[in-house]
Amino acid sequence: MTRARHAKSSNSKSALWEAALAVVVMLTLPEPMGARADQPAAFVGAQACAGCHTAQFDAWKGSHHALAMQLATTATVLGDIADARLEHFGVTTTFYRNGEKFMVRADGPDGALHDYPIAYTFGVYPLQQYLIGFPGGRLQALGIAWDSRPKEQGGQRWFELYPGQQLKPGDPLHWTGRDQTWNYQCADCHSTDLKKNYDLASNTYATSWTDLDVGCEACHGPGSRHVAWAKAHTEGSAYPSGTDASRMGLTNWLKPTDIGHWEMNPETGIARRTEKLVSTELETCAACHSRRKVIANNPTPGAPYLDAYLPALLESGLYRADGQIDGEVYEYGSFLQSRMHAAGVACANCHDPHSAKLRAEGNALCAQCHLPEKFDVAAHHHHRPGSTGGQCVNCHMPTKNYMVIDARRDHSIRVPRPDLSVSLGTPNACTQCHADRPAQWATETVAGWYPGGPKTNAHYGTALHAGRIGTADAEQQLDRLILDQRQPAIPRASALPLLAPYASPASEPAIKAAIRDPDPLVRAAAPRALPGTPPPRLADAAAPLLSDPVRAVRIEAARALAATDLLALQGARGSSASSLGSEIGKAFEMIYGVRLRVFKLKFGLKVLVSGLQSVGVFAFAVSRGDHGSQWKDRNRYRVRFDQRARSRPRSLARSSCIRAVNRRCDGAVRPNRGYPR
Ligand code: HEC
Ligand code: HEC
Ligand code: HEC
Ligand code: HEC
Ligand code: HEC
Ligand code: HEC
Ligand code: HEC
Ligand code: HEC
Repeated sequence: MTRARHAKSSNSKSALWEAALAVVVMLTLPEPMGARADQPAAFVGAQACAGCHTAQFDAWKGSHHALAMQLATTATVLGDIADARLEHFGVTTTFYRNGEKFMVRADGPDGALHDYPIAYTFGVYPLQQYLIGFPGGRLQALGIAWDSRPKEQGGQRWFELYPGQQLKPGDPLHWTGRDQTWNYQCADCHSTDLKKNYDLASNTYATSWTDLDVGCEACHGPGSRHVAWAKAHTEGSAYPSGTDASRMGLTNWLKPTDIGHWEMNPETGIARRTEKLVSTELETCAACHSRRKVIANNPTPGAPYLDAYLPALLESGLYRADGQIDGEVYEYGSFLQSRMHAAGVACANCHDPHSAKLRAEGNALCAQCHLPEKFDVAAHHHHRPGSTGGQCVNCHMPTKNYMVIDARRDHSIRVPRPDLSVSLGTPNACTQCHADRPAQWATETVAGWYPGGPKTNAHYGTALHAGRIGTADAEQQLDRLILDQRQPAIPRASALPLLAPYASPASEPAIKAAIRDPDPLVRAAAPRALPGTPPPRLADAAAPLLSDPVRAVRIEAARALAATDLLALQGARGSSASSLGSEIGKAFEMIYGVRLRVFKLKFGLKVLVSGLQSVGVFAFAVSRGDHGSQWKDRNRYRVRFDQRARSRPRSLARSSCIRAVNRRCDGAVRPNRGYPR
């Protein structure tokens, strides 16, 4: 402020000087940490919180969050480095010490053995990975990991993360390949305030972070304003007026207990919330604990999830048809399916967010909300109380192994449905333990235990399965699921892309309803039911979504429309193309934050087309994960984008090509039944 005032009162030359000086002064004076309440909050690092919040800091210090990534030192490297050797498809990897340095001799990008110093550890239990510095600011994750479990459990050994697979240099999954590049594939979930800082022109990274690990601000958001508030608070002075003092300067208010609490309902034996849960907590965790694409530039913790991320739906390869975990999907997409999520349960009900440990051991965890007299008894689970067969989680959260040895629990917290194993071939908790018994046996046993129980209820898995395998009634089943508001949003959303190859005019009501659905996840999936729809209908259907308040919805709509030839549309429909143009203009404004004054009559059409292409380019860049700073260089993307498009049959929607680059395109867009082509 002083700078501006001075500048005005002097002649221009000295004003320049003074301005320059002021900048220097501002840069060199020790700023009280983000003291100004009207400045955007900045990240200050976990150490800055330690002094005032010792209890939370001490709990967090030893947590897996705090150990997610560390400099490789004698204290942090768990692996037995002393001349360990491992052979895999004829390649011998050797670990050894070189003075203070931890070294590995491994096959490099050229296939020959090289000696690399280990820069960082990644993860801690049940396994630890190691990162190695490469040119261009890259860190690469070694494909051989240390099994840190105790010896009795088979641990304390090196092992291959892709056993039985021979990954050659050049393969994206090879440890020197793109899929193992920390900056691109791993970093934003394992560190705090991470900025990839990828430079397209030089193909290099200058990745930066505040905390190497998952620090306080990864959940609480940038803390400078809170620290300023606390300092003012402890000194007795007031926090500057007109600020968020009521929330102590915290940028992400995580307290789920603002309104409402849990109260036992003795009739059902299940607790209920007195008021609906209003909290950013679940979405804060979901930022990292979900399989997703990032669709915003450096989203801040607590930002509405669908404004920052596009989650994977219940897709084949990631989830079983009935929504159980299959690929590595973390927890959020599962939890969204559960009745507990619908009732307002969140992650911190079971996990202390600071130690990341469970709030209670064994069945006591569930007894917080499920009366033990009703559920922790043989009358409910039909096993000896206290035995493994009587553990709530063993039936309601069965495990699957990831990274070879890490058994993760399915967070859809569902009722075991062996009957679905019989009809859909999905796994069930009973025969996971009783491996020698068929699903039919478990189905009959459960039916005997709970006559009239939910075991016979219709399940969304049946419709998703029909969609996946293409039964004769797939379209009707999917339509019904999409329209069924009692079902969780994620299976309903998942039905929409499955509907695409079958959709006939009969599906119009379901697709239209999805476009207006109150749940943004369903709206975001709606355009994915449209590939192959003739352009006029497609434009009518998808255009309103371009100005949806939720970014994920806008992006999916833009992606669907990127394939549309609006020139042809204009010829066919006259004036309505210009209203479409204004929708796209609005979408642009929201997506880029730039107002495009392009839809003037004279040039309207031309710019419209190039604008659309840019939307496609945008979606492509997003799908690559290199979004953000590279916008400047859109042309490069465009070139690659167009090449992809040209090398494919014209009938293939461009949006599918975009997906192809993301290795998700099945390549085949089957013609729609019913619609004239
Ligand atoms: C100078 C001391 C100080 C520092 C540094 C500080 N805080 Fe605080 N913090 C406080 C005080 C005082 C309160 C209010 C506590 C109360 O009234 O119960 C508070 C409250 C909070 C709360 C809300 C507690 C509640 O009642 O819900 C959170 C969350 C929090 N701090 C997180 C952080 C984080 C994260 C950092 C580091 C970025 C940090 N604090 C740094 C002093 C500090
Ligand atoms: C910035 C990303 C990020 C955020 C935000 C985040 N986590 Fe994590 N979380 C991780 C990573 C990465 C790991 C694995 C760390 C490791 O094992 O090295 C992890 C591990 C965990 C674990 C396993 C701990 C263990 O001991 O095995 C739990 C539980 C967990 N997180 C819960 C939560 C909850 C609850 C929230 C929200 C309140 C949350 N996380 C928010 C990234 C995050
Ligand atoms: C979408 C966020 C995300 C990305 C991207 C991600 N991780 Fe993780 N990672 C997690 C979470 C969350 C956990 C904790 C386990 C869980 O949630 O199931 C974890 C756990 C781990 C662990 C600890 C061992 C374990 O199984 O718990 C290692 C090692 C690890 N990740 C390595 C990687 C590597 C290497 C990459 C990049 C190739 C990567 N992660 C990418 C979120 C992520
Ligand atoms: C994984 C996410 C996560 C991380 C990391 C995290 N917190 Fe929290 N913190 C939360 C959540 C969620 C709550 C609300 C807990 C509740 O009331 O259920 C919370 C609550 C708090 C509170 C209020 C008192 C309490 O314990 O409920 C303080 C103070 C706090 N955190 C400080 C910190 C500090 C300091 C750090 C770093 C050392 C930190 N937090 C790291 C998620 C996190
Ligand atoms: C914070 C409270 C809370 C905790 C803790 C809790 N639950 Fe729940 N649970 C609920 C509520 C609420 C419902 C939904 C009741 C409804 O829909 O009427 C529910 C429903 C369920 C259901 C029915 C699911 C379905 O699809 O029919 C199962 C199974 C379940 N919980 C198991 C567990 C297990 C296992 C644990 C411990 C790991 C647990 N719950 C911990 C509150 C909780
Ligand atoms: C041996 C497997 C098994 C164990 C162990 C088990 N359950 Fe269940 N649970 C089931 C089955 C099967 C159903 C479905 C019952 C039916 O069809 O009526 C069920 C249903 C439920 C429901 C839904 C009830 C409703 O009203 O919708 C809740 C809640 C639940 N279990 C909680 C628990 C808790 C808490 C524990 C641990 C104390 C537990 N279960 C242990 C198998 C088990
Ligand atoms: C009803 C209780 C409950 C809720 C709610 C819950 N979890 Fe868990 N979670 C568990 C249990 C039980 C385990 C198994 C822990 C163990 O075996 O040590 C677990 C394990 C984990 C793990 C370790 C890896 C794995 O998947 O087994 C992570 C990470 C995790 N939870 C994150 C989350 C996140 C994020 C949320 C919210 C989206 C959440 N959890 C909600 C009970 C819960
Ligand atoms: C965590 C492992 C585990 C799970 C999950 C489990 N059981 Fe069991 N079950 C056992 C064990 C161990 C016994 C041996 C007796 C005991 O401990 O009660 C047993 C005993 C039984 C028995 C009586 C003995 C027999 O073999 O005929 C039946 C019936 C049974 N289970 C059915 C089921 C059904 C149905 C489910 C799913 C709803 C289920 N179990 C889930 C471990 C499990």
